[in-house]
Amino acid sequence: MIILGINAYHGDAAAAIIKDGKLIAAVEEERFNRFKHCAGFPIESIKYCLLTAGVTIEDVDHVGISRDPSAHLHKKVLFAATRAAKQAVGGRRQEAVGTIDDGDVGGASVNGGNASNGNGAGIFSQIKDRLGNAAKVRDLRDELARQLNIPKSNIRAQFHNVEHHRAHLASAFYVSPFEKAALLSIDGFGDFISTMWAVGEGNSIDVLGQVEYPHSTGIVYTATTQFIGFPHYGDEGKVMGLAPYGRPRFINEFREIIRTEENGQFRLNLDYFRHHAEGVDMTWDQGSPVIGRIFSDEFAQTFGPARQQGTALTDRERDIAASLQLRLEEVGFHVLNHLHDKTGLTDLGLAGGVAYNSVMNGKILLNTPFKRMFIQPAAGDSGTALGVCYQIYNGILNRNRGEVMEGAYTGPQFSNNEIRKALESSNIGFEEYSDEEVTKRAARDIADGLVVGWFQGRMEFGPRALGNRSIVVDPRRADMKDILNDRIKKREPFRPFAPSILEERVGDYFEQTHPAPTMLMGYQIKEEKRLEIPAVTHVDGSGRLQTVSPTVNDRYYRLISEFNQLTGVPVILNTSFNENEPIVCTPQEAINCFLKTRMDVLYVGNCAVRRR
Ligand SMILES: [Fe+2]
Repeated sequence: MIILGINAYHGDAAAAIIKDGKLIAAVEEERFNRFKHCAGFPIESIKYCLLTAGVTIEDVDHVGISRDPSAHLHKKVLFAATRAAKQAVGGRRQEAVGTIDDGDVGGASVNGGNASNGNGAGIFSQIKDRLGNAAKVRDLRDELARQLNIPKSNIRAQFHNVEHHRAHLASAFYVSPFEKAALLSIDGFGDFISTMWAVGEGNSIDVLGQVEYPHSTGIVYTATTQFIGFPHYGDEGKVMGLAPYGRPRFINEFREIIRTEENGQFRLNLDYFRHHAEGVDMTWDQGSPVIGRIFSDEFAQTFGPARQQGTALTDRERDIAASLQLRLEEVGFHVLNHLHDKTGLTDLGLAGGVAYNSVMNGKILLNTPFKRMFIQPAAGDSGTALGVCYQIYNGILNRNRGEVMEGAYTGPQFSNNEIRKALESSNIGFEEYSDEEVTKRAARDIADGLVVGWFQGRMEFGPRALGNRSIVVDPRRADMKDILNDRIKKREPFRPFAPSILEERVGDYFEQTHPAPTMLMGYQIKEEKRLEIPAVTHVDGSGRLQTVSPTVNDRYYRLISEFNQLTGVPVILNTSFNENEPIVCTPQEAINCFLKTRMDVLYVGNCAVRRR
């Protein structure tokens, strides 16, 4: 049985394919079309999934998309009616009202599409427009046939709309190692919901509670990210990196902006936001999504004028970031403690854009009764493509579970032959090593202080490079952060770089030892170790680690082991293989990145290119 899952018309468009319950491929469209977080229809990802499974679309039994326009429709209509009535009473006229909740934006999520209406009568056009936008989701069969250039009648698959958060929850449970677990999906919005919690057992997931539009932790994070001068889609991670530089002196203000309530609920003080009243546009043109301003003038009333992008950061922005991060953690733990109270379970599956907040994730085991966690590597919206597959296979068709996703290596790979061809066609001299020699050589280069490109095996699914599309350097050198930024990454100096560590050595370096194979947990580095690995120690002593085991990534494990042999340190610095673009996918892109940056040496498969 072949099932194709799709996340489309959202940021981080993606596709995944499973065969008799086994995960065959999962990949984000941005890696093919080279637009970061690209939205639209993931046709290249779909083609890659079909090719990897050795099938054509005609062979596919089920196709699902992680959107359900009819989900929560009565709530959407009620919300639109209430808003329209208020506008009519207030005599306000609005232009360019976005549709209610069609978009979902990494960490945050806003309205997709545009409508224009102004008064009580506007409700009808608003709903109609929303449905019009949703029609694209419904016409998936047409779109697939058109993009694959085949007659629609050739597609015999059954089509499914899987509600957005149910897709997130499925991705956090069905490929987890847990037979039974508490589950939380938390993001901006998707299908009118921002947060959903549930219990998963065997082949079913029972939803226990949810937080509805317009209340959302992701919205608060994105609005504040915009306010302090980071306007791009996906910039929330920068604010998370900035937060430890500040003091949470605005925590009371943020407790007013987002308030917790009984039963795991929370509510926004809507005075601070535009999305619920005026609508916020999310646009894309097969490229990166662009979101309109979410914060209202109330932010400036409280904090002073918004920071303009490119102006110097001050303590105010650092303190706002610290306060926001602290408040997110408080609200997150509030929901999670409620979820534990309701279920009594100590295993947790976590998904949604907010689950990319590794700082919050790393504190969950310290602030809640949960003991074990599974975070699927593409916890954000791309991962809903995978969730859709398993929601259909396990949840709908009731087939038994059997897949545990231990790594994230579900993307394209290239043979040494293909790699050689790419190098030869670029006219680059290279050396070729045996399997054993390649990790030894690379470890020696890292220990010698070189900046090493490390391109191996299948590309990762999700935002983190996990040792197959990575740039790796020596974490013992305090100046490595500046060297990387100067030569390649050009990132803001406050953003940390991450450590990869041999799994069995975590307890020697970190205060917590729960595995973090997908780099989505930040732990405190032991005080006595911080000076040993300064390049991966953040200003507050934390590190967003990747724990590496031989069963999940043998070659990467051997690389770090060889480095440990040479230096006595079982840690290397791992940053994604890219300049300011999506992570490289092909050998040619790796070569191009090597040529245009000042990387010292590039390992592609068993071949090595040195800068001369
Ligand atoms: Fe989402």
